[in-house]
Amino acid sequence: MSELNKIALKIISHGKGILAADESNGTMTKRLKAVNVNSTPENRLLFREILFSSECMKNCIGGVILYDETINQTTSFGKSIPDLISASGAVPGIKVDTGAKELANSPEEKITEGLDGLRDRLKKYYKLGARFTKWRGVYSISNKYPTRLAINSNAHALARYSALVQESGMVPIVEPEVLMDGDHSADVCLSKTSEVIKKCFEELILHKVDLSGIILKPNMILSGTQSKEKISSEEVSHKTLECLKNSVPSDVPGIAFLSGGQSESEATENLNLINKNNNTNFIMTYSYGRALQQSALKVWSKNIKEIEETQKIFNHRAKMCTLAAQGEWVSKLESE
Ligand code: 13P
Repeated sequence: MSELNKIALKIISHGKGILAADESNGTMTKRLKAVNVNSTPENRLLFREILFSSECMKNCIGGVILYDETINQTTSFGKSIPDLISASGAVPGIKVDTGAKELANSPEEKITEGLDGLRDRLKKYYKLGARFTKWRGVYSISNKYPTRLAINSNAHALARYSALVQESGMVPIVEPEVLMDGDHSADVCLSKTSEVIKKCFEELILHKVDLSGIILKPNMILSGTQSKEKISSEEVSHKTLECLKNSVPSDVPGIAFLSGGQSESEATENLNLINKNNNTNFIMTYSYGRALQQSALKVWSKNIKEIEETQKIFNHRAKMCTLAAQGEWVSKLESE
């Protein structure tokens, strides 16, 4: 077993999942503004420190994705944030892309940037304690999109990023996110997501990336948010499994879904059924941002000194997601 494969498995085995706490300062400001909290470095740290000190970090959270600001911060007890995370048994990770920008010659689409100087930044993050990384490519669906240009260029960037990350001794999370916005059906989402993921693996293989040392972070197969078609969780699970079974090479150890704007309960129920119906050899778990933090953030925002209640809510959410990652979640547990 390679070192990278061991790190990947440590993050996603036994129902553990990933806390995506890598919101950029811009995104975090939006989230905090929505609950009337000032977005200062101190407040961003305070909320995150509360999460990273929670009980569920030991048994539910296998890895935490950080943003550059946070990986350089120190807790109120003088510990570095990566040390706090490692002390709980979870693996510290870092978002290394520098954001999705307008794609030249298809300006309504996006290309993710951040390759220039990446090798040196990775060395710095490794020294700070990171052992895995994230890069997100983003694609929208419409009758014109995603274009072949967006699919190919983002896959190329994801592969170049992954090769550099593995060279630096870390596990790359490969995140091609096909967005939920639009009035498309789930079947269109299935065919577009399959095309996107297949192209990513074509490029990853061309760039000689060790597939046993990556984690794929895809979207689930859903109908568009403006679509009249509403499909059941059971259908979501079957279409998602069909997509991954046909697009992901078997060397990949695991898949950690993004929540992408699903509610906490949708993201939990869908993951649970994916695991119940899992007819693949892949570990299927979560790498949620909003679907892990939303309720905790709401409670915390009422009194930012309130640690216990905030942690209680976060612990509960993480426990539900971890049960779902093992196909053992039932809705009545939500109210217990
Ligand atoms: P959401 O789960 O809120 O979609 O965030 C996951 C993530 O890391 C997006 O890049």
